[in-house]
Amino acid sequence: MSTPMTQDELKTLVGRAALDYVQPGSIVGVGTGSTVDKFIDALGAALQKDPQFIAGAVSSSVRSTERLEKLGVKVLPAEAVSGLGVYIDGADEIDHAGYMVKGGGAALTREKIVADLAERFVCIADESKLVQTLGKFPLPVEVIPMAAAQVIRAFAKLGGQGKVREGCTTDNGNIIIDVTGLSISQPAQFEADINQIPGVVTVGVFARNKASVCLLGTPSGVKTLTF
Ligand code: A5P
Repeated sequence: MSTPMTQDELKTLVGRAALDYVQPGSIVGVGTGSTVDKFIDALGAALQKDPQFIAGAVSSSVRSTERLEKLGVKVLPAEAVSGLGVYIDGADEIDHAGYMVKGGGAALTREKIVADLAERFVCIADESKLVQTLGKFPLPVEVIPMAAAQVIRAFAKLGGQGKVREGCTTDNGNIIIDVTGLSISQPAQFEADINQIPGVVTVGVFARNKASVCLLGTPSGVKTLTF
């Protein structure tokens, strides 16, 4: 009897599978997180075989930039490119329409900016991330520090309990508020509404920038969901 695959192995599987979505010689958008780390490892292996495999990357965090640069990948600032073919990133939750909750790694603002440059968002995730309705995972919201209490009160009115993430300063110098108790049945409207709260920099619902494809790691292999 074979042993079941670990979550880490499922992440490795989808990280590798994402290489198929990279146009050789292109500049690729790279997300953040433990699943993306596997994609970066796979990129490293591909670059060993073919140093021209990609021309460079636009990264969504200091963490991913450092990993990419260790491999010798040229990391371009987002403002230097006018568009990307593909953006590859993980998610904390993804639903059956490709809407996502992201920001568990606090990189959500830059992730949304880089995702918005790309024609296609390829989400890589192990099967535990697939949900019916978004909201079980505490929703990360990047907030300007002076607005913390106000934003928490605004979420309380919506039935959510917000808590400042301890010891966390984003790459942009802001804080993260994690909100529990929400059920996000209309992600696009929700994203637009929360973005109106003064002090909110980015809400971790990715509706406007939802996934085009999700490569889901399952014990029987990679399942491809297209939206
Ligand atoms: C980073 O801020 C997040 O949006 C990540 O993409 C998300 O938390 C998924 O991370 P893992 O791949 O580590 O689960």
